[in-house]
Amino acid sequence: MSDYTHVIDELGQNLRGRRIVLGVSGGIAAYKAAELTRALGRMGVDVHVVLTEAGARFVTPLTFQALSGNRAWSGFQDGEMEDGMPHITLGRGIDAILVAPASANFIARLAAGFANDLLSTLCLARDCPLFVAPAMNRQMWENPATRRNVALLQADGIIVLGPCVGEQACGETGPGRMLEPEALCKELTAFFTPKLLAGRKVMLTAGPTFEAIDPVRGITNSSSGKMGYALAAACARAGAEVVLVSGPVTLPVPAGVRCINATSALQMRDEVFAAMTGVDVFIAVAAVADYRPAESAVHKIKKSGAAIHLELVPNPDILAEVAALPEPPFCVGFAAESQELDAYAEAKRRAKRLPMLVGNLLGDGLGGDENTIVIYDEEGRHPLPRAPKTYLAQRIVERIACLLSTK
Ligand code: PMT
Repeated sequence: MSDYTHVIDELGQNLRGRRIVLGVSGGIAAYKAAELTRALGRMGVDVHVVLTEAGARFVTPLTFQALSGNRAWSGFQDGEMEDGMPHITLGRGIDAILVAPASANFIARLAAGFANDLLSTLCLARDCPLFVAPAMNRQMWENPATRRNVALLQADGIIVLGPCVGEQACGETGPGRMLEPEALCKELTAFFTPKLLAGRKVMLTAGPTFEAIDPVRGITNSSSGKMGYALAAACARAGAEVVLVSGPVTLPVPAGVRCINATSALQMRDEVFAAMTGVDVFIAVAAVADYRPAESAVHKIKKSGAAIHLELVPNPDILAEVAALPEPPFCVGFAAESQELDAYAEAKRRAKRLPMLVGNLLGDGLGGDENTIVIYDEEGRHPLPRAPKTYLAQRIVERIACLLSTK
């Protein structure tokens, strides 16, 4: 089983304590629903599993009962709850229904408004958001009937998660594979994250820059991009329109984020100013190279026994230029220091006239999944305990939203 620790941390307060009905319809991906039940449970979600008759043929209710700690339901089972109406009672006081896997047959029944088993009746009698995670053979997914049904679900406000493209149980490859449990957990998290930045446009820089010496060599910084990408994802989850100007990294672009690639500091600056229109918040996480070679050789420099002298010229300070605009966005800087964090970080914040700056010590911040940060603003310093970057990103978003609301 996957280690969901980072997702759990990220979720923190967003999913903990929620009550979710997990519907399981018939399909080989039902085994992944067992993993999903366990993952949600570990995040503090109260999971109630309802299987269709076909779903219960793939994985038994007993499995889900053991994993969720709650009774798992299948078929109709009227009369088994005290009031004899599980299709109503189970659906009251729940935060969401997620049907994963949702088979082509179940999607068709949902689209047509059928109420011929407990799960479909629960979906029909709900007063909470409904998510479906389709899982089926690629030709079933591409069939016009399924396309019509999925369009109907979306028109009815049902949130369709996936499917993704990949190898299928039948041996074919294509669209129709259910999203992995971890991805589904992230989708639920995003849904339940408070939309603190709704209506805002946020631009971030992330990763290192690469300053070419010749076609194969260059000067760079050892930034992985993890902090910047986590922050971009947190801004998107908080409802912002997000533009990420990224140096060369190997991370996937977070959902809901528009990524513009840049290699050198000069390119990064050009991309930042080209997309600046309407930006409300600018967050400079990138470790931009302070200097670049005065000249970059067109051809590979040949090795010789002689010493080489490299002339370096300063790069423009992107953040300082954005902060100096006549009507600047709300600017957030970062500072990675090897010592005297408070003094150096606060000096950087004041020098660039920033309302907010995030300081981190080099040993902690670079490359890893965790960091220890201090937020500096006009109200003083706000230290946060060592934590995953995903978790810290959310705390940073909360502070930005708080300061924006008092601006
Ligand atoms: O990518 P990771 O491995 O997750 O690591 C994250 C990080 C350590 C790189 C990140 O948390 C961080 O601290 N980034 C800032 C690095 C830094 O020290 O920057 P700086 O002191 O050189 O610059 C201060 C601020 O000005 C930063 O916001 C920087 O993005 C910005 N700047 C700097 C120089 C420049 N030419 N243009 C800029 O915009």
